[in-house]
Amino acid sequence: MSKIVEGFSKLTKEEKIDWLVTHYFNDNKKSVQVLKTYWNTDVQLQKLHEEFAENTISNYYLPFSIAPNFLINDRQYALPMTIEESSVVAAASKAAKFWLQRGGFTAEVLNTEKVGQVHFTFDGAYKDLLTFFEKHKNHFFTGTKDLTANMEKRGGGILDIQLMDKSASIPGYYQLHCTFQTVDAMGANFINSCLERFADILLTESKNYMFFKEHKITVIMSILSNYVPNCIVKAQVSCAIKDLPNTNKLSSLGYAEKFKQAVDIAMVEPYRAVTHNKGIMNGIDALVLATGNDFRAVEAGVHAFAARDGVYKSLTNVTLTDDTFTFSIEIPLALGTVGGLTSLHPLVKLALELLQHPNAEELMQITAVAGLAQNFAAINSLITTGIQQGHMKMHLMNILNSLQASPTEKEKAITYFKKEPVSYSKAVSLLETLRN
Ligand code: MEV
Repeated sequence: MSKIVEGFSKLTKEEKIDWLVTHYFNDNKKSVQVLKTYWNTDVQLQKLHEEFAENTISNYYLPFSIAPNFLINDRQYALPMTIEESSVVAAASKAAKFWLQRGGFTAEVLNTEKVGQVHFTFDGAYKDLLTFFEKHKNHFFTGTKDLTANMEKRGGGILDIQLMDKSASIPGYYQLHCTFQTVDAMGANFINSCLERFADILLTESKNYMFFKEHKITVIMSILSNYVPNCIVKAQVSCAIKDLPNTNKLSSLGYAEKFKQAVDIAMVEPYRAVTHNKGIMNGIDALVLATGNDFRAVEAGVHAFAARDGVYKSLTNVTLTDDTFTFSIEIPLALGTVGGLTSLHPLVKLALELLQHPNAEELMQITAVAGLAQNFAAINSLITTGIQQGHMKMHLMNILNSLQASPTEKEKAITYFKKEPVSYSKAVSLLETLRN
């Protein structure tokens, strides 16, 4: 039977599920039951969630967790984190507490410029295109006044438009490279609307331009860029080296030096840098998701930034000067606290309330701190106990759930694994013993 369907989006939710039952589900009753278990009994709330995307048939839960005790620029925060990896929130909380006792985190936004481009081809000479552009540049601003009026009232708008000659890479390829200030909005819709208008203006003006009778501009596409190397936030922590952890195996100075070596390795070794930065993104994505921002945009931009010098490297840095340990991060984060999901998703609204209604710059600072804290926690484990001890302790609950452990069995297992390294096979044999 063919599994090709026409007009799927027009079917009701129930009809969509019926179609899946006919074509894809093996155990129909069970599959439909799973989907329905996640429907919210509050019909309005369910409808709200269904309308966030097309062809929705159920809801997909992720944990909404809290990492308390963050001190950022002398203000206390409990961070909302949406993430499925069991050790991340515990690690963030541990790092927050450690730095709370050492003056907390500081953070500052260095700049907030967003980027968008109109990509087009031109079959004439660049110097003629440049003359045309300079003559008409003002029209791009005046011709978008209806789109920019509101943003300008809030302190934002179009910053600049430049003509870029890219014909050395692809013959006849040029760009309008445009920069924007979008204040508290992530600004994707604003930027894309302006860019599409720029493209219209470019075409209309070029058709009316008498010197272009023989030449033609063709617009290929108009779209914002998620690469935002001038939308940067910096966060850092600092303390006396003597206040770093020490054990009988590793002095505080030894700890500081080993920590620096671990970060330096991620500066020069891309295999390590990718995992190092992945750990940073554990914290960042969790905040980005909880606050209803676009984690794919942030991920793409951050990794491009990490490779900006032609080598993929660490986003964090350590300096040891005199007696002081300083650990910092510089990262591009195009985030918004208005628009998008921020006024629609009840948990996103709650997350922003928890963060005391930050503006976009404050959210950039908090999010960068979450990344730095996560990286601190990861490196702290890696250079001391190793990562598995903490990971497997947190993963224990997933293992026990997958083995359908009862509440009493879970309690006994947790006590047992306080003294034993956690592994799947050990959990299986412990449950077998308990069950016999
Ligand atoms: C796991 O999700 C993240 C780490 O691998 C990060 C790192 O190695 O720095 C622990």
